[in-house]
Amino acid sequence: MNIDITSYPDKDISRDTDRDAGKDGNPSKDIFYVTTPIYYVNDVPHIGHAYTTVNADFLVRFHRLVGENVFFLTGTDEHGQKIAQTAEVNGVSPIEWADQMVPRWRDVWERLEISYDDFIRTTEERHTRPVQELVQRLYDQGDIYLDTYTGPYCVACEAFYQPSEIIDNLCPIHERPVEWLEEQNYFFRLSAYADRLIELYQTHPEFVEPEIRRNEVFSFVKGGLQDLSISRTSFSWGVPIPWDPKHVMYVWIDALQNYTTAVGHGRDPERFARTWPADLHLIGKDILRQHAVIWPAMLMAAGLDLPKTVFAHGFLTVGGKKMSKTNLTGISPHTLVDTFGSDGYRYHFLREGTFGQDGAFSWEAMAARYNADLANDLGNLVSRSLAMTTKNFDAVVPHPGEPTQLEEDLRAAATRAAAEMEARVRKLDPAGALAAVFDFVRAVNHYIDDTAPWKLAKEPDQRERLATVLQGVCEAIRQISILISPAMPSASRRIREQLGIDPVDERPLSESLPAGTSLVGKKVTKGTSIFPRVEVEKTD
Ligand code: MSP
Repeated sequence: MNIDITSYPDKDISRDTDRDAGKDGNPSKDIFYVTTPIYYVNDVPHIGHAYTTVNADFLVRFHRLVGENVFFLTGTDEHGQKIAQTAEVNGVSPIEWADQMVPRWRDVWERLEISYDDFIRTTEERHTRPVQELVQRLYDQGDIYLDTYTGPYCVACEAFYQPSEIIDNLCPIHERPVEWLEEQNYFFRLSAYADRLIELYQTHPEFVEPEIRRNEVFSFVKGGLQDLSISRTSFSWGVPIPWDPKHVMYVWIDALQNYTTAVGHGRDPERFARTWPADLHLIGKDILRQHAVIWPAMLMAAGLDLPKTVFAHGFLTVGGKKMSKTNLTGISPHTLVDTFGSDGYRYHFLREGTFGQDGAFSWEAMAARYNADLANDLGNLVSRSLAMTTKNFDAVVPHPGEPTQLEEDLRAAATRAAAEMEARVRKLDPAGALAAVFDFVRAVNHYIDDTAPWKLAKEPDQRERLATVLQGVCEAIRQISILISPAMPSASRRIREQLGIDPVDERPLSESLPAGTSLVGKKVTKGTSIFPRVEVEKTD
């Protein structure tokens, strides 16, 4: 890699270290910025990786739905010993390997309808140049020094451990033998930031969520921080240390900066000021220390604003262990999408379990919830409502008559569902948000049971009442199509197609949601089933 930092323009971003400057103090920031981890390209994606990204996509799509300006970043982490080793085993150069793997990741995201705004690769120059510039600056100001490192290192984690954390010479996460390193490394004065980190956790508890992770990070830092080895000389696949290029950077020092380089750090100050700091770094709990200790310390050293929230979710487990390729338990998202579709896939991983805690994956649970919530509650609601409209009103949504209390209640239920959904999203609780939406789906089903349109259809003098009921139901389905759109964008589009309307548009939810008469006169079509039932045997 040939990187010339001399031609690199000096950045002129605010060095205000007040972490609130971003949203409250920095008038330029007008973008809600969400990130996923960048994934190692040593492997293909499995459903554990997709878990983070699907949840991030749901949150992002909801923020867009209420009219916020959002920037959603994902990408790939391409440096480090693990990638170099994998490429070597496969007989190609690391960059050739990465180039082969990136389309695999992009394909999965496309299939899962991940609406990222940018995909950063850490081998791109827009990343490596600002990374070198920042590290050089930390060196120049005395935050980086040369010393000897001795201690355990897990290549699978690409992480250093304390000797006390290693039992039987095994990495606590991968349960594979660690390497014991002894080499001259550059060190980042992480220990110098311990007091400020502790103050950060105390004054801004929302910096680490959920609480259990905050406590974990807090006691880790309270226990004393060691300076961090940030360079390696035993291999060369990494960003060179600019003042001593026989060293390459420790992969995390490079990787974490994807969050700033992707939004213009060191390249586009105006854009950077509009976007940084990140509002939400969504990660798995395995990479909490890097995000909640190393990253804020690096940003403090660099004089940059700190992200608002690092949210660490739990693991998808198989047999009680983190699902991973290393454990041979990784399931490809494609396998599940083949059976459940992208909507069924997304719904499951948003709705099942509590975001933040570990959750065991099982085909049976996935099929059961899919059949109950999607095929029965929502799918049948759409198909029976459109069938009745087709049969009784030539498939044209009729003019309603005077509403009764039942219709008023249904409208109120939609408003309540939207409010509850928003409150849950803001608490980073996708499952709770969808529970609110599906409470509304069930309320519409109850409304149909209570008003019994099939009986009304048999009584000629009840024609206006029948029109009121079916128009009300179609309108409720339109509202549902909006509320499900962040979770199930494709189902939302298909439902709206059957209602004879365009996909959810850019209007904020507050304008698009209220029940009205916009569907009156629209021709509905009873298309193919939105959520065909899945037989459990099929999933064995
Ligand atoms: N490259 C680093 C992240 C750098 S971010 C600056 C990395 N990559 S990874 O590909 O190994 O994993 C990324 C993330 O995938 C994990 O943090 C976690 O969010 C997610 N998961 C991987 N396996 C998982 C499960 N079994 N369950 C849930 N999420 C897990 O770490």
